[in-house]
Formats: sequence, C-alpha cells, structure tokens
Amino acid sequence: MPALFSPIRFGTLELANRIVIAPMCMYSAEDGCATDWHLMHYGNLAQSGAGLLVLEATAVEARGRISRYDLGLWNDAQVQALRPVLAHIRRHSPMPVCIQLAHAGRKASSLRPWEGGGAMPATHPDAWPTVSASAQGYLPTDPTPASATLQDIAEIKQSFVDAAVRAQQLGLDAIELHNAHGYLLHQFLSPLSNLRTDAYGGSLEGRMRLTLEVFDAMQAALPTGFPLGVRISATDWVEGGWDVAQSQVLAHALAERGCAFLHVSSAALHPAQQIPIAPGYQVPLATALRNSLNGRMPVIAVGLITEAQQAEAIIQTGQADAIGVARAMLYNPRWPWEAARQLGTQVAAAPQYLRCEPHGAKGLLHAAPATTD
Ligand SMILES: Cc1cc2nc3c(=O)[nH]c(=O)nc-3n(C[C@H](O)[C@H](O)[C@H](O)COP(=O)(O)O)c2cc1C
Repeated sequence: MPALFSPIRFGTLELANRIVIAPMCMYSAEDGCATDWHLMHYGNLAQSGAGLLVLEATAVEARGRISRYDLGLWNDAQVQALRPVLAHIRRHSPMPVCIQLAHAGRKASSLRPWEGGGAMPATHPDAWPTVSASAQGYLPTDPTPASATLQDIAEIKQSFVDAAVRAQQLGLDAIELHNAHGYLLHQFLSPLSNLRTDAYGGSLEGRMRLTLEVFDAMQAALPTGFPLGVRISATDWVEGGWDVAQSQVLAHALAERGCAFLHVSSAALHPAQQIPIAPGYQVPLATALRNSLNGRMPVIAVGLITEAQQAEAIIQTGQADAIGVARAMLYNPRWPWEAARQLGTQVAAAPQYLRCEPHGAKGLLHAAPATTD
C-alpha cells in the first residue's frame, strides 16, 4: 500500500489516509451563517476520498471575521445553519470533518478577494474596528487596530471556548485552531506585530501566552481526548520575525498538552516577506518540526503539493505524517482518486459513483463504508 494511503491517527481521530483537505475560506456566509454554497461545496469535497475535510476559517466573534462573508460560530443561528451542511456530508460520506476556528485580528474588516481584498478603509460603510496585539496595521495605510486590553483578551479567549463547544456539540470530529497566516494569534506570536510590554508580549514565553491559554481553555471545555490541532505559520519569512526555532518551542509546548496535530504553513504576517515559492516549498518547515518533535504529534505539510508522487515521497521518506491540499483540490475535487490511480491503490467512493472508473483503472474505487446517519 502506498504510504499516502495508509491510515493515521490524529489523537483519537482515525483517518483512512493521509490526504487532508486544507481549510479554504469561501466568503459565502450571511451573518456568519452557512448557505447553500457550503452545502454544495463541502458536499462535493466530501466525495473526494480524502482522509479529512477541514472546514474554512470560522470566526469566533463578529469582530474577528476577515470579511463580512466569513463563516462564524458565535451564535446559535450559525450552529443551526451549519447543521444541515454537516448532516448532508454525514448522509453521503464517512469522511471525518474538522473545523478551523479563527480570529483575524488586524486583518479583519477586509474585502473579499474577488472584490479586491485588503482592509476596508475606515470610511467604508461595511468597515468595523479591529483589534490586535498592538496598535499597528498590516500595511501602514490600513486602519489602525486597537491594542487588545486584558478585557479584550479575556473575551476573545472565551469566544474561542464557546465556539469550540458549539463545534463539538454540533458533531464535528475535530477542531483546528488557526494560529497562522498573520491572524490574531500569530499577531501575538511574532515580534514584528507584538510590541506589548505586558505578560502577553516581549519574551517568546510572553508572545506564546495567548496561543497556549486559548489552547488550554478550549481543551478544558471539550470532552477529554477531543481532537484539537493547531495550524501555524512556521516562519514569517522576514528577518527578526517568527521563525522555525520559535515554532519548535511552541510545537513542544503544544505536544506537551496533547495537541492532536500540527498543520505547518508559513507567512502572511508582514508585507516584507520573501517567500521562496516552489513546489512543496513549506515541506522543509514541516520536516524540521517533525524531526524535533520525534513522533510526539503528527505533522501535516501543506503548500504546492500537487502531484501524487510528490505527496507519496513526502510521506514515505518521513518528511511529514500527512499532506494538506488546498487549490489542487478546488481545481480537481477528485484529486485523491487520481492520486490512488497513479499510485496503484484503491480509494473509497459513494456507490452512486462506482461505475465511473476509467478504462484501464478497474478496481480503483470501492464502496465507502456505510455512514452513521
Ligand atoms: C481559496 C483559498 C482560501 C483559503 N482559506 C484559508 C483558510 O480559511 N484558513 C487557512 O488556514 N488557510 C487558508 N488558505 C490557505 C490554504 O489552506 C493552503 O495553506 C494554501 O493554499 C497552500 O496550499 P495549496 O498550495 O495546496 O493551495 C486558503 C487558500 C485558498 C486558495
């Protein structure tokens, strides 16, 4: 069996294979509520044969949305709107579903990418005030966020906890804490965006404090053993910023706490970033962390992993324990089927699709196990 298609555990969660559908904002929610876009989109991705589906960045409070169209999980209406999406997936797919919980911090109050992206000017009728580790925008021209008070920090922490409990009660299988891509928790981690002089800034310990307190509070509110993982930007790709050495310290602190997985991305904290874009360019970051962790928690590599052989080599040679696929999955939502064909193995599929195997690939698909619905 190819290593990519061997099962793996993220804490108590069993994945049929090592292909993770990475979280992707759809900017298609209304007041934080899922719409028929989500039903169609996630229903489709749940037919892909991947080992895990991670739902898009979902805001834990209104102020923490990237755009006004982000999914949210800060009220009951949003729970009710997401319920049919999950029920639909469950009815037709055995794929476990994780949700990414997020707060955008100073990158909130932005336009959707197809509306130009970036922070709305404070004068825009849809703009709202943002909060960050310090009163410093991503771009000097962006509206200046408020520096979080201790009261803000306490409220934000509680919002993460409340959203986590809603997610678990809704029946989601796992939670990924969004600690990457220049959003709020990453804004606290990086010395480039955290200029605080209190207990939440300064030393590495101070800058990691909010991430670890949020993780601890969520974990304490969830049932024992509920899979809680973390996505990080392992480096800012800026001199003097957050880097792999600091990520290693954070990774060990998370492993110590029973973190279910580490999803290793990079960047998006500072406009001066110099990213060496190339196929698999973030894999060495995941490998550095995996080597340092020495098996204490599984590590997901992500970023321009687009080819089956490339993914197989990453797993087989121990560069990562699982791989995340984002854009290639939107382009071809049957990416795992094609990977299985190229690697000469089988993948589970809905019975309605079993007759579609291409000539020469008979036996590629087998019926997915019965769903629980
Ligand atoms: C449309 C789109 C939306 C994204 N939204 C999120 C998100 O909600 N949370 C997140 O952590 N990353 C997000 N990302 C980043 C992806 O998860 C992934 O890390 C990145 O695209 C690199 O992987 P890829 O080369 O396979 O696309 C998004 C990427 C795309 C293309």
